[in-house]
Amino acid sequence: MKKIRKAVFPVAGLGSRFLPATKAQPKEMLPIVDKPLIQYAVEEAVAAGITEMIFITGRNKRAIEDHFDTAYELEAELEASNKQALLELVRTVIPKNITCIYIRQSAPLGLGHAVLCARPVVGNEPFAVLLADDFMDVEEGATPVLAQMTEVFEREGSSLLAVHDVPRAETKQYGIVSVTPYQPTLELVNSIVEKPAPEKAPSTLAVVGRYILNNRIFDYLEGLGKGAGGEIQLTDGIAALMQAERVLAYRYTGTRYDCGSKLGYLKATVAMGRKHAEIGAAFSDYLAQNS
Ligand code: UTP
Repeated sequence: MKKIRKAVFPVAGLGSRFLPATKAQPKEMLPIVDKPLIQYAVEEAVAAGITEMIFITGRNKRAIEDHFDTAYELEAELEASNKQALLELVRTVIPKNITCIYIRQSAPLGLGHAVLCARPVVGNEPFAVLLADDFMDVEEGATPVLAQMTEVFEREGSSLLAVHDVPRAETKQYGIVSVTPYQPTLELVNSIVEKPAPEKAPSTLAVVGRYILNNRIFDYLEGLGKGAGGEIQLTDGIAALMQAERVLAYRYTGTRYDCGSKLGYLKATVAMGRKHAEIGAAFSDYLAQNS
């Protein structure tokens, strides 16, 4: 079975729910305590053995490229002032064996279109898609979510969607799947629909921002028109792919925070703040005294 070597990070959305913070920078650069969302997602991909990171960027792309590049002036300053720990932090944002590739999405036409932009670089192999604003936390020492998924993929060889149950009232925020039981944490997907109203949703099993996709998805994305919200939807591409081959839904182990929303972002900040090596204890004390 082919190993997953490439990950696509669509980071060209408008991030309108986070304006004005996202006026001049992508929302994926928002930090959870002291690390941007996109760095957490890249670390998750690295932990899954992925070596090629493909970023689909938009107008405000500079910050992400700069973040994963060498910062000569900053490094020189830190070296001159002998701040070794900070220097190390800045130099190890991304491991040396990782390649970063940036592709520009000319207009934010939708997630499906963003993924299609990666086709020339992904080529003829299965790949992962990570939406960095879906921040996935796992317990200390546990396998990160994407690595859980690559393990399943290597065993099963089918496209795989990360799913979890949501309250019925929230189906309108997600792609929703209907499934047939297959294995303990794995389901066969029968249908998928983008942002259904609660009364129309086929289930309450929602797709979150981690996917492993067979490269055949590109053929289907190519032919798609606009779907829900007037955007070219990845969900519609997956629905078409499903007609040709099996697609699986994986119930991951971990906690997902929707950091594209203010409330989810704050929850993630509190959770990670509590665990933070440097300020976790003091922050937990502060919360205990002020709640
Ligand atoms: P969202 O649905 O969260 O949209 O996109 P958004 O534009 O980023 O945020 P809001 O809703 O305006 O606040 C899901 C993911 O798809 C990417 C986004 O960057 C995000 O990671 N995306 C979306 C693109 O890369 N291109 C697009 O055209 C649309």
